[in-house]
Amino acid sequence: MQSKLPYIPPYKTKMIEPLYFSTKEERQHWIKQAKYNLFKLDSDWVIIDLLTDSGTGAMSEQQWAEVMLGDESYAGSESYHKLKRSIKDILGFDKMIPTHQGRAAENILFSACVKEGHVIPGNSHFDTTKGHIEFRKAKTVDCTIKDAFNTSVQHPFKGNVDINHLRDVLEQNKGNVPFVNITITCNTVGGQPVSLQNIEDVATLAKEYNVHVFMDIARYAENAYFIKKREPEYANWSIREIVAKMFSFCDTAWMSAKKDGLANMGGFIATKNDELFVTISNLCIIYEGFTQYGGLSGRDMGALAQGLQEAVNFEYLESRVEQVQYLGQKLLDYGIPIQTPVGGHAVFIDAKKFYPHIPQSEYPAQVLAVEAYLEGGVRGVEIGTLLADRDPETGEDRYPDLEALRLAIPRRVYSRNHMDYIAATINNVFLRRNEVKRGFSIQWQAPILRHFSVELERL
Ligand code: F0G
Repeated sequence: MQSKLPYIPPYKTKMIEPLYFSTKEERQHWIKQAKYNLFKLDSDWVIIDLLTDSGTGAMSEQQWAEVMLGDESYAGSESYHKLKRSIKDILGFDKMIPTHQGRAAENILFSACVKEGHVIPGNSHFDTTKGHIEFRKAKTVDCTIKDAFNTSVQHPFKGNVDINHLRDVLEQNKGNVPFVNITITCNTVGGQPVSLQNIEDVATLAKEYNVHVFMDIARYAENAYFIKKREPEYANWSIREIVAKMFSFCDTAWMSAKKDGLANMGGFIATKNDELFVTISNLCIIYEGFTQYGGLSGRDMGALAQGLQEAVNFEYLESRVEQVQYLGQKLLDYGIPIQTPVGGHAVFIDAKKFYPHIPQSEYPAQVLAVEAYLEGGVRGVEIGTLLADRDPETGEDRYPDLEALRLAIPRRVYSRNHMDYIAATINNVFLRRNEVKRGFSIQWQAPILRHFSVELERL
């Protein structure tokens, strides 16, 4: 019988970075020294680094060529024009300003649009988005569909906005909602996609209430891939056609281009709104730099212009998402509880189900993160109570519905063998899950965004 040729990544490796295989004893020493915070580990102390998919991908030879071609002129550089052309060509926006990363875009955009007392609804905002909104004494409302928080419920678009909930929020806060924010894919609930139907429904509702639609588009290409695969109407559309339709429903978008920009650094704000563009251009000059580089070198803008083109290539997206699905399936085969269906950039392990005997007040997802590191030198990140931080009004911990360890897969970096290693590591942690009796208490924490620097103690 003839063999069906499997999917393979549409590229091969030209440059390698060696890994150091630390011992368990070394890792025990280092994690204690790091006060059980994986952000405090040196990268050499990590064997497989799944802390984030942000800025950690491998660039193509064409992107490296753009680095060499970088035009470092302060104004009017060719690298800036390349970036502007890519954004127009793929996303359809005429006006944009570059920023050095996503949160810098949030700072500029929210300085223009978010005032004290505002309410900003959406599907689950990312933590820096939330941080920037709450820092301005405005409120965020999470309107993600309920199914997103039950990891065993199968729903093709767990990133969707609950339209009835959104309607209630808009109705109760008339005149106080400057925009609705749709995060695509929705990182916080597991890199889960938002359907085109849902995007359209949000836009229709927002129009009814005279509210803008903004999009946080760090992983928009992966979202478009899921639309093609899971929303039957679009099965025969190209990724570019789907992307164009997605952005036809919003007036402003910002991007952390360290994800689907396939760049190590970069971001931007793109808008169709002339008035807003004038305001954010001025703020860009104050906070980031002149509007034609906004905190980036010419070479970074060139690499990003090229990366944006590569990220909407169907074969690339297929191998990218398939790798994440492969890891997810291996974990499911071991009986490990994960968010299903698996999202676009990461596998989220359900820590409440993994360690049902450890209460959320002892940070079970962080326990899992530490155990995975000790077992195999695999560094993931807690997306749970530490990340959710405290309620700004009461100062008490907020307990999120989803308490997870995120294993974020960098783009074009690891092989299938690495995925097998990760799965075996997590399985070993799973097999001895009952030996871990207690979690952590907090020794020290920063006033906001505590998870980056928190210091923990074993209970
Ligand atoms: N929005 C989303 C959806 C993100 O995932 C991130 C970053 C940002 C905004 C902020 O962008 O890091 O470039 O300033 N997410 C990273 C992560 C940090 O690990 O998921 P940034």
